[in-house]
Amino acid sequence: MKVVSALAAVRQLLERGTVRPGDTLLDSSSGIYAYALALACHRHGLRCHIVGSTTIDEVLRTQLAVLGARLEQMPPSDDLKLDQRRRVRRVREILAEHPAYHWMRQYHDDIHYLGYRAVAASVAEETPGQALTLVGGVGSGASTGALARYLREGGTDLCLVGVQPFGSVTFGSERVTDPEIIIAGIGSSIPMGNVSHTSYDTVHWTAFDAALAGSVDLLRRHAVFAGLSTGAAYLAARWEHRHDPERTVVFIAADTGHRYVDTVFGRHREAVPLERLAPRTVTTPAELALPWCRMEWSGERGFGEDRRMAVPVTGAPHG
Ligand SMILES: Cc1ncc(COP(=O)(O)O)c(C=O)c1O
Repeated sequence: MKVVSALAAVRQLLERGTVRPGDTLLDSSSGIYAYALALACHRHGLRCHIVGSTTIDEVLRTQLAVLGARLEQMPPSDDLKLDQRRRVRRVREILAEHPAYHWMRQYHDDIHYLGYRAVAASVAEETPGQALTLVGGVGSGASTGALARYLREGGTDLCLVGVQPFGSVTFGSERVTDPEIIIAGIGSSIPMGNVSHTSYDTVHWTAFDAALAGSVDLLRRHAVFAGLSTGAAYLAARWEHRHDPERTVVFIAADTGHRYVDTVFGRHREAVPLERLAPRTVTTPAELALPWCRMEWSGERGFGEDRRMAVPVTGAPHG
């Protein structure tokens, strides 16, 4: 998913003259952005330096090494917040040592929206005149935010559904802890400038177990081998489709299932049949509880504004 975003961002930086071939691009990533940025750097003759989450697996580590990207990986941890805090600290240190590095700021710079314009155009082309519900995990917020922006600008009647893990500040679930492993790529322990809170009509929060059930069902029923954030998005998308069958539901599958072979697919016998799962409806983030909640978010206008103010537009790195 992130290849379209990183390629367009890097192209734009080169066109503006912000970076030149030979320069180093730096960012923090849970995995798929690292790969995307390494590919974009490879194509355009740039160097790539990644501060990676503990969730980056051997397959990706090896590819990054062969592509010539430098990876600094955080130590093993089940704590999303700690992992992210460590990465933020390390990015700060690297920038202090190498002020000429260009920090991509995938969490905050909306240059990462640009690449999704073509994806939005192809979705619109395949669903002419249809009312859409778009469901996707929210990490930086770029994929869901950009697709919603471009589809709405093109006149599509679009309902945007964001999917979150518990323990994330982005939509206020930081007080609820999921004891299981991290759903890589979604949620955050720091405010993300690329999240446009007012764009979301609905938010789902899913625990690891519910996302596992979604990922296993997606492979069993549809033969699609995708990661945990996709399993969570699929679970929410199925529910949204039942809730409002008149609308066409599109969900974003961000990555493949390879890094979850042991931790998710190896546990397929534990997967609860999706028919037995339903979200608890909440009206405020204060009511959130494991394993799955849904909220009509439109009422929460203004939620993100104070958080977005905490995000620096320029200057010292934040995430
Ligand atoms: C596996 C996975 N799913 C979902 C997302 C969320 O995408 P976005 O950052 O566009 O919100 C990411 C982002 O890194 C990801 O890695």
